[in-house]
Amino acid sequence: MLNNGLKTSVFAEQEVYINKVFKLLPQIYEYKPKAAVITFGCQQNVSDSEHLKGMLFKMGYTITEHTEEADFIIFNTCAVREHAQDRVYGNIGTVKALKKNNPKLLAAVCGCMSQQESVAEKIKKSYPYIDMVLGTQVFHRLPEFIYKRLSGSKRIFERDLPNEEIVEDIPVLRDGKYKGWLPIMYGCNNFCTYCIVPYVRGRERSREPEKILAEAREMINAGYKEITLLGQNVNSYGKDCAHGVTFSKLLRMINDIEGDFVIRFMTSHPKDCTEELINTIRDCKKISRHLHLPFQSGSDRILKQMNRHYDREHYLNLIKMAKERIEDVSLTSDIIVGFPGETYEDFKETLSLVKEVEFSSLFTFIYSPRENTPAASMPDPVTREEKGIWFDELLKLQEEIALKNQDKYLGKTYKVICDSVEGDGLLSGHTSGTASIEFEGDESLLGKFVNVKVTSCDGALKGVVI
Ligand code: SAH
Ligand code: SF4
Ligand code: F3S
Repeated sequence: MLNNGLKTSVFAEQEVYINKVFKLLPQIYEYKPKAAVITFGCQQNVSDSEHLKGMLFKMGYTITEHTEEADFIIFNTCAVREHAQDRVYGNIGTVKALKKNNPKLLAAVCGCMSQQESVAEKIKKSYPYIDMVLGTQVFHRLPEFIYKRLSGSKRIFERDLPNEEIVEDIPVLRDGKYKGWLPIMYGCNNFCTYCIVPYVRGRERSREPEKILAEAREMINAGYKEITLLGQNVNSYGKDCAHGVTFSKLLRMINDIEGDFVIRFMTSHPKDCTEELINTIRDCKKISRHLHLPFQSGSDRILKQMNRHYDREHYLNLIKMAKERIEDVSLTSDIIVGFPGETYEDFKETLSLVKEVEFSSLFTFIYSPRENTPAASMPDPVTREEKGIWFDELLKLQEEIALKNQDKYLGKTYKVICDSVEGDGLLSGHTSGTASIEFEGDESLLGKFVNVKVTSCDGALKGVVI
């Protein structure tokens, strides 16, 4: 199938390798081998890991969470901040000792870090016990690589970024039974100056609407009650295709699928967030009343330096429209503190925006320079300590806002999916926004929708089923 030159290929070639590995494993291990998939990073990685588990399961591995008992380990890595990378190096270092105990153990590194030249080189030289390094656009070839390595090939380094295909029909083993991820597009074209994602994930590629709808139907039939649509910038869904289905249209199509379920999505870029999208959230009963709209900085000067293509006024207009049109909307955002050249005056603009909007929750990060991104070579005179002080000031402000607003839930009734049992025996679910809520009830409610009236808002929300 073709869409603007993009190939949509099927998984058939790898099915052959799945069968080969399935036959080979009993010749190598006298027991059923186990595989561990260790995931770092965002929901996109979590979703990719569910596909890695799907393939491994079909190859004949049992999935385990414990690397100590695994015969195959794959680290699915994140490169978005330095801290994320450091954690990965610590983890892959443990493979050396694990291989001493289990000489038949194979270990692989995939995900965003492995797409970086410098990381692949470092692993090649300094981590000789890592058997394979796979880039973000070749991870579906895992069966082929496992087969080759088990059959005696050299260490495998495959990091092509062809940007020209979407691979459909990769097996999937989802982590949750009631809530699931559904990628609608891959990659990013925005090149925000601080961000490594476009370099490691490649160009924007949207899946065909029929494929997305078919997967959504499958999930609903399998009992999923919440589907979260994933993309780095979901608002530009379909812009790379000829089919003309916009993100809003796609949402309406999913909303029209029969059944009782909730639709969530992330992430929306403010430059592409439209009135049509806000109206779609307002009109569609199954879409959660939540908008995650990262603004990154409240200063127009910094937003320009970040290459974000919107200003404070545009952002605040979107927020105003969302608050007016979507009843009880929950707003969340991402913020970067200490972008190169940011002054305290600029930072105060971020504080004032947070004060004005009153977000339900925030994901806040101190700027971390990423190799080969434009921001990494911009002058950055403010010290890390100073940025830490600003960061704490932002957290304190958000805590005050949360405390001030916590009573707004009191007495209200929310339809929640009962999704887990907490340590204290209480059941737990989420409001249509993002707040988590605990309530007493029988385990038979798991996976079902229940109406919960909030009776206390002291820290965590508590309620009763009505
Ligand atoms: N595509 C999404 C988010 C991807 S990364 C979007 O555009 O909103 C998630 C968040 O990590 C970003 O929103 C940003 O706040 C943060 N981030 C990205 N690169 C960073 C860097 N170099 N340093 C600190 N935070 C960063
Ligand atoms: Fe990174 Fe910007 Fe793309 Fe988000 S939109 S992934 S922040 S480049
Ligand atoms: Fe990290 Fe890659 Fe996601 S860099 S945030 S795992 S797209």
